[in-house]
This record gives sequence, structure tokens and C-alpha cells, in this order.
Amino acid sequence: MILVVDFGGQSNQLIARKVRDLKVYCEVVPFNKALNSIEEKKPTGIIFTGGANSIYEEKAPKIEKEVFECGIPILALDYGTQLMVQALGGKVKKVDRIEFGEVNLNIEESVLFKNIENGNVVWINNVDIIEELPEGFKSTASTKNSKIVAMENIEKNLFGFQFHPEVNNSKYGKDMLANFVYGVCGEKADWTMANYAKTAIDDIKKKVGDGKVLLALSGGVDSSVTAALLSKAIGNKLTCIFVDHGFMRKNEGDEVEEAFKDSGMNFIRVNAEDRFLNKLKGITDPEEKRKAIGEEFIRVFEDEGRKIKSVDYLAQGTIYPDIIESGVGDGAVIKSHHNVGGLPDVVDFKDLVEPLKMLFKDEVRELGRELGLPNYLVDRQPFPGPGLGIRVIGEITKDKLDILRDADYIFREELEKAGLSKDINQYFAVLTNNRTVGVKEDIRTYDYTLALRAVETTDFMTAEWSRIPYEILDKVSRRIVDEVEHINRIVYDITSKPPATIEWE
Ligand code: XMP
Repeated sequence: MILVVDFGGQSNQLIARKVRDLKVYCEVVPFNKALNSIEEKKPTGIIFTGGANSIYEEKAPKIEKEVFECGIPILALDYGTQLMVQALGGKVKKVDRIEFGEVNLNIEESVLFKNIENGNVVWINNVDIIEELPEGFKSTASTKNSKIVAMENIEKNLFGFQFHPEVNNSKYGKDMLANFVYGVCGEKADWTMANYAKTAIDDIKKKVGDGKVLLALSGGVDSSVTAALLSKAIGNKLTCIFVDHGFMRKNEGDEVEEAFKDSGMNFIRVNAEDRFLNKLKGITDPEEKRKAIGEEFIRVFEDEGRKIKSVDYLAQGTIYPDIIESGVGDGAVIKSHHNVGGLPDVVDFKDLVEPLKMLFKDEVRELGRELGLPNYLVDRQPFPGPGLGIRVIGEITKDKLDILRDADYIFREELEKAGLSKDINQYFAVLTNNRTVGVKEDIRTYDYTLALRAVETTDFMTAEWSRIPYEILDKVSRRIVDEVEHINRIVYDITSKPPATIEWE
């Protein structure tokens, strides 16, 4: 395995993803845990990330010298390289003019540049430059403005790049990483989801033994894949509770039931629509709605949990980005993550089972496919816990939910048919609380305005509204007003996030 040592760079996860794309297992650890992790995990190679700091800053992250002496190949990137230079006796200097963006790389002979053409483009963002190499190192690449942008000490298998091979702008970045991972570290491309599934199933069997496991299944990708994996491993020792709050999209509840009801586990679908609708009667404020839905979720679980009383393990669909610790700051914070609004407090359990906790989202999807889950579950876009409850503006009623479900279905269907669903990260309809006058077959109507929302984003923290072609919008609009009763006007949301959020409530 390859260990990525994080110095607070923004691309720690990206580097790990790129190594895993090479089908080599890889984990990310914060710099202050590097030495312990090396002893514990015995990696075949180490990659230092970049970082936001200059090594001259007072609080700049440092690394123990022993890391360089443990005999394991190291590829340092950007800040990591500057740290390596400084730690091994070379000199780094602040630049007068930051070198930033795409640059051409003049390369020398190096194992890391095998089969890579001279003059290739890489992405660079340099705050400090290498002024003097440490003993035993030679320069292996330069740019127009910098004499040393790559270095190596081949006897000690220590390498440094001042540029970023992990970003797509670096044309041969992936090949350079491959040269390190395969050529220098001797790894093989054998980390596949089929192997992962086998190992994970064995591990679950070993851990759980004859014990009983409970999983709160939301129907989202992570909990669905967790359910599939656990059910393959332990069959009827797994109980899944799927709370259908009535705020699912069209057919979704049935699809989840269909996928799991005969999978060998105990699948409990709680049809709680009436309960939720009752609880939400008269509530119009978005925050109050969210709170009420979250609380009711927990109540439903508790009621089901009381019937089960005790299990040995509680399973969760936690994934890797939720647990990667930050490399910066003292006492790194670990984010906790629950797939549903709450855990059943009334159920006693002795430990957690989190079989996806080392996987990135797209790996979870791949694993789901490997386990035979249908595409409609595996490729599902993010869906908020409160579901359509926060996409019906104003008071939620069964009628409004049904109208929204039908309209949302048409929108999604048309985008999928047009082949746009792969590029748009989230797309859905919102039933506004606004009614306007229209005319249908010569008769006056006074019906709802439906809003369509589609965004492109990588992290959902910021998002750009999607430029859906007019013809597609036109088709969606015509179909919805034609096929769905009580909608007579369609608007398309053209605000990005910020200042808007993705959801309307
Ligand atoms: P906003 O509206 O904050 O949404 O821009 C960002 C992303 O988060 C999703 N979202 C939720 N996900 N529980 C969830 O699991 C929630 O309560 C929730 N609210 C928003 C939203 O769909 C978008 O992907």
C-alpha cells in the first residue's frame, strides 16, 4: 500500500484517488501521525502532499527525520519537496514572483519520467523554490523560470516534484505517479473492487461471527451498498430498517424494497407516511420542517428498535472522505457522519460495523455494481434526508407531494434520455407555493408554479447552475404542464451557490 502524508494541501484526497485509479491501495494520514502509520501499515511507498504554508512560517508542518531514513521510497510534492530539501540539508528560498499555472517541463533522465516526452505540460504553484539541493540529490527537471522543479536521490529512492502530477492539467501526471508506484515501489495493479468485496466479506464474517447486525437503510448509495455487502456476508443475521417517510421520489420506496426484500436479510419497511404528514401538518417554516422530519425519524426508529431490543452491531455507511483527518492544525478533527437523522437509542449494541469507511464515493458505486445492485440505486444522485419534504414549499400535503413526484420524474427522465445526467451533479424539481393564472383548453386555470433546478459541482459547497439546452427545457416544460395536473407554469432556477443554496429550503 501507498501512504499519502498530508501537509494540509487541498489535494490530499485527489492524490489518493489517483493512486487508487492505478489499482493500488492507498490511505491518507496527517503529517503528525506519519511515523506511527509507517510502522503500523508498512507501506511500500510514501507520497508527501503539498500544503498551503511556506516552510518558513512559524506554524508550518514539519516531519521527523526518521521518515527519510526508514528506507521506504518517498515522492514529495510541492510543499513536501521543500520540506524534504530543508530536512536533508539543502536550501529553499522564497520566490520574488510566484510561478503559477501550466508550465513546460524540461526533463532529464529519471525513472519517474520513463516514457514521458520532454516539454510536457505540468501544473505548478510555487511559493518557495529549491536553491540548493541536499547532498546526494540531482535535478531532474526545470522550467523556463526555475532551475530545479524535480529532484531525486536514486540510491535512497527519494524524489521531489515542485509541480502537481495529481491534477488533470499535468498531462503525464498519472504516468509519473504510475512510474513511482509501480516502477519504484514495486506495486501491482491488483486492488480491484472484486478483491475488496471478497476481503470485506471475510472481515465482516470474522468480526460479526454469530452476532446480529442492524442497519438503518435510507435507500441512498452508501447505505444501500452497505446493506448489499452485509447481506452477502451474513445473510439473515442482518436486519435493515427502511423508514419510508413518504417524501421519497416516484417509485423510490418500492425500488429499495425490490432490491433488498429477497436478498436473504431481514428487511423491514416502515410505511410511515401518515405519521410524518400528521406531524408536519400546518408547518411552513423550512427549519421547523427539517427539525420535525428529523425528530420523527428518530421516533420511528425508536419504535422499531423497541421491537428488536438488542443487537450486537450497528452498521453504518460511513465513507472515507468522512473520516480523513485534516493535516493542518493541532488535534485534527474527525467528522462524524450518520446516514440517517439519528440512531436508535433504544437499541443496545457493542460496536459499529463500517465496511465502506476506506472507500471514496465512486468506489462505493463501483462496489455496488460489483455486488449486483441495480444502476438506479448505485448511480443515485445526492438526496437530502428530509426528501421531498423540503422541496414542497409551504405546508406539505399528500396531494402536493404527488404532484411534485410526477413532475420531478419527468424532468429526470428527460435529462437522462438526453444523456445529460452524467454531467449534471444534481437535478430535481421544486413545487413552489405560488399559484398563477393560466389557460388550458380554453379554460382558465389557477395552479402551481414548478421550479426546475440543476447544478454542476464537485463538492456541493459551491455550485454552478447547469446550462441545459433550451430544447430540452422546452420539452420538459411542455411534458410537465401537459401530463401533470395542477401545474400550469414552469421556471428554471438560474442562480448559482452562493448566493443561493442548492435546495430551496
Ligand atoms: P444546499 O441546499 O445546502 O445543499 O446547497 C448541499 C447538498 O446537501 C444536500 N442536502 C442534504 N443532505 N441531509 C442530507 O443528507 C439534509 O438535510 C440535506 N440538506 C441538503 C443537498 O441535496 C445538496 O446535495
